[in-house]
Amino acid sequence: MELLTTIKGVRGLVAEAKAKGKRVGFVPTMGALHDGHISLVKAAREQCDFVVVSIFVNPTQFGPGEDINAYPRPLDNDLTRCKENNVDVVFAPSTEQMYPQKNLSWVEVEKLAEPLCGRNRPTHFRGVTTVCTKLFNIVGPDIAYFGQKDAQQAIVIRRMVEDLNMPLEIIVCPTVREKNGLAMSSRNKYLNDEEKKQATLLYAALQECEVLIAAGMLDSKNLTEEMRKLLALGKDIKIDYISIVNADTIEEIEIVKGKVLVALAAKIGPARLIDNVLLNV
Ligand code: PAJ
Repeated sequence: MELLTTIKGVRGLVAEAKAKGKRVGFVPTMGALHDGHISLVKAAREQCDFVVVSIFVNPTQFGPGEDINAYPRPLDNDLTRCKENNVDVVFAPSTEQMYPQKNLSWVEVEKLAEPLCGRNRPTHFRGVTTVCTKLFNIVGPDIAYFGQKDAQQAIVIRRMVEDLNMPLEIIVCPTVREKNGLAMSSRNKYLNDEEKKQATLLYAALQECEVLIAAGMLDSKNLTEEMRKLLALGKDIKIDYISIVNADTIEEIEIVKGKVLVALAAKIGPARLIDNVLLNV
């Protein structure tokens, strides 16, 4: 496994791999790797011949007052996990390498980036789409892997790749959870034991919604009301949003039907956590 910090270095190794006819799989991350990230690496390893993982805490997707400085950066641990999973190249650039000058060029996906997480984080997705465009241009993968855990991110990235004819395929892999249902996240590290317990209510609420839909409750307002009641059991949970949306357009729906995304975000102590389920009703 090679650890590279320069764009030139990555381009060189990927060019060599492509010259040998290898299919390049790419997993962009911000590090603090857990089994959720590793599930993407495993998918890339199975489907591709050459696997690149990027580790870069991207400043342009953090808003003012967000957790960029606190964000965990356990690089040695991350490298061990990548090595164990037969990654070929880890690209871990500095901020100066990725943004050598004030960034003036942005890639923005309209509409899809506005609801849900876009509402309280208005510049977040523009940072994500811009850095992913840069990373795709640097790595030049055949396939890039994203997690369903960040459902809106996956939808936005897919649309960007379609709209801008980017020459790669996007594969979205299922959310990996702890045994207690909590979606794995680098931000779970911010939680103390009590907060962790309360955090399990997020997935419990999504599961309750699924059960209620199966039992015939199809009105979004009633469903979100029930989810709010369940989340109220966690005294430190501050709900940012609970939304039931069309899974393609991310538009709110009144009556649940077809492919729907039930998504929520909440602050628990110092952490802002998100989770979702994708349902076919
Ligand atoms: P990060 O939060 O590190 O996540 C990297 C990838 O891992 C994303 O595609 C995310 O959806 C996926 N992932 C995280 N937790 C997961 C889980 N529990 N199960 C399955 N997949 C999971 O998302 C980002 O970084 C950044 O926005 C990035 C795309 C790297 C751009 O900076």
